[in-house]
Amino acid sequence: MRTQVAIIGAGPSGLLLSQLLNRAGIETVVLERQSRAYVLSRIRAGVLEQGTVDLLTRAGVGGRMAREGQPHSGCYLTHDQQMIRIDFAEACGAKVMVYGQTEVTRDLYEAQDALGSPHIHGVENVVLHDLDGPMPHVTYDHDGQNHRLECEFIAGCDGFHGVSRNSIPETLRREYEKVYPFGWLGVLSETPPLHEELIYANHPRGFALASMRNPMLSRYYIQVPLTDKVEDWSDEAFWAELKARIPADVAQGLVTGPSIEKSIAPLRSFVSEPMRYGALFLCGDAAHIVPPTGAKGLNLAVSDVHYLSKGLIAYYTENDSAGLEGYSTQALARIWQAMRFSWSVTTMMHRFPEHDAYDRQMQRVELTQLATNPVAQRLFAQNYTGLPY
Ligand code: FAD
Ligand code: PHB
Repeated sequence: MRTQVAIIGAGPSGLLLSQLLNRAGIETVVLERQSRAYVLSRIRAGVLEQGTVDLLTRAGVGGRMAREGQPHSGCYLTHDQQMIRIDFAEACGAKVMVYGQTEVTRDLYEAQDALGSPHIHGVENVVLHDLDGPMPHVTYDHDGQNHRLECEFIAGCDGFHGVSRNSIPETLRREYEKVYPFGWLGVLSETPPLHEELIYANHPRGFALASMRNPMLSRYYIQVPLTDKVEDWSDEAFWAELKARIPADVAQGLVTGPSIEKSIAPLRSFVSEPMRYGALFLCGDAAHIVPPTGAKGLNLAVSDVHYLSKGLIAYYTENDSAGLEGYSTQALARIWQAMRFSWSVTTMMHRFPEHDAYDRQMQRVELTQLATNPVAQRLFAQNYTGLPY
């Protein structure tokens, strides 16, 4: 088989890249390890920046998001019992959209089906070959046979545990990593959200987040030690702990119910540079991971796709390779900004085992500054709603 761009991974970055390229007349083949049902069952991000909304709309997948997504013009940070509202609209004139990653992925699959774009699910042993040579290609197993896909470019959109990043020779890669000493226990429940806006809570018992998907679907998280297992947490224990970490007058209104999904995610900051090696370009979690506190993971995957799709389209339609040459540098400049924001909000909002009374005072004054200083609010709002592309 032969194509122009082979895409490894059918998560949001692989699907959106394929969609944008196909609409510009560029051929792709998407190779995914899991089934489509499995990809669609993963509960992950929930907050989309305006730039993400705009790019999805330009890709022809904005219809259902515009009808069913919820625009939010602010969020709350709490410090013990104090509620601090950051008004994004007032601070920087922007908004975010609450619309789940699962829904984004579903919309992209439907749009790709309508274009007849080839996706091969259930592939194994994906290997990338001749990345710096004249015949880049991908081999993989599917239905008991080995296949060879020849291509001009390969987009590594296969997430943190994919094969693409490690196909770049180790001597050429620089990796930066910070692992946090806790994880997030997440629960999805068919209950009305606690509040009309998201609440990020800093509490002596640990961080908590009250988020949502729609008027009858809530998403909650609490900080837990890395040693905790999902089985350690009954629904009752989860609700009690969540309630204890949210200001009491708001927590009174919490509606509880059975969890329909419960999982623990470790928190990590990670960047691998460069994001290009010959014919291979990395996109999204394949190249970088942020802790979810800043709601940046999915949005960064989308900004990578923006730069890469532009570069590939200019190459194929105008024979202009400047965008491809500059891809890694341009994408990384934005990634490092989001790394800083995600790290700083994580540091401000969590209980770290190693923190002492001095560190907790630093958290307190940072939150006080956000509560009282319009400049601090503006900086937070600009970063949260998304820096320009
Ligand atoms: P992925 O979504 O990881 O997609 C990669 C795809 O590649 C997967 O479908 C995978 O099956 C496939 N793949 C992997 N290896 C291979 C292979 N060898 N061959 C073929 N296919 C392969 N972000 C937020 O903003 N908020 C959140 O609350 C949040 N929660 C998260 C919770 C978890 C458990 C995780 C893992 C991530 C979370 N994120 C969150 C981050 C966000 O979901 C990711 O940034 C986003 O999914 C990145 O999209 P992606 O397409 O780059 O990677
Ligand atoms: C979510 O709804 O899953 C969510 C929202 C905001 C975050 C992280 C996760 O910062």
